[in-house]
Amino acid sequence: MKKIAVLISGSGSNLEAIVKSCNSNLINGEVVSVISNNPDAYGLIRAKNFKVNTKIINHNEFASRNEFEKVLGEYLDQLNVDLIVLAGFMRILGKKIINKFSSKMINLHPSLLPLYPGLNTHEKALLNNDKEHGISIHFVSTELDAGPIIAQGIINIDNAEKIETLIDRIHKIEHKLLPKIISEICKDNIYIEQNIVKFKNINLKGKNIYIKNYEV
Ligand code: GRF
Repeated sequence: MKKIAVLISGSGSNLEAIVKSCNSNLINGEVVSVISNNPDAYGLIRAKNFKVNTKIINHNEFASRNEFEKVLGEYLDQLNVDLIVLAGFMRILGKKIINKFSSKMINLHPSLLPLYPGLNTHEKALLNNDKEHGISIHFVSTELDAGPIIAQGIINIDNAEKIETLIDRIHKIEHKLLPKIISEICKDNIYIEQNIVKFKNINLKGKNIYIKNYEV
């Protein structure tokens, strides 16, 4: 069984989806720690409700980003996990920690990368009158939201849609696709080699990443 750490900053609904999938054996893994840089993150309460170990590493308590990341890196080392999932983790990490963990660190981003790295992705998709919007799951690299993409979930949108509804639909597909991809990583069916994502026993339907269209 693989050991997973999940890093959060806020609500933690994706964390909950991951824990539930572990508990129902859809993921052959265990969330051994939920790490939050925000002491008030609701995800910490969700973790406790599921009896998952939590750790607060509050970036505000460190004099510099380096010192924060040193402590975070040491804690991750100590946990000795197979996979680190950034699920709504709202801190940009520096080169040193990323280079150390990049082969086992994935990020969930709410846009169809390379479209809209950074914040306010839903607003941008609506403003640009996009017909499709979605989520990307990628290995983390030193460039923001730009590491090798593993999977994307896609929904149809139209610009008359309310942003709240859109965010809700995006969450729904995140809660399906993220556990699915974590499950495949835990089966060693997805991994990274020389900066290229490798897939085993997965039908990519002619594409070079895993793409799923959703109707939600
Ligand atoms: C998700 O939409 C994720 O894509 C983005 O932040 C949100 C986190 O939601 N990076 P939650 O904390 O998992 O509920």
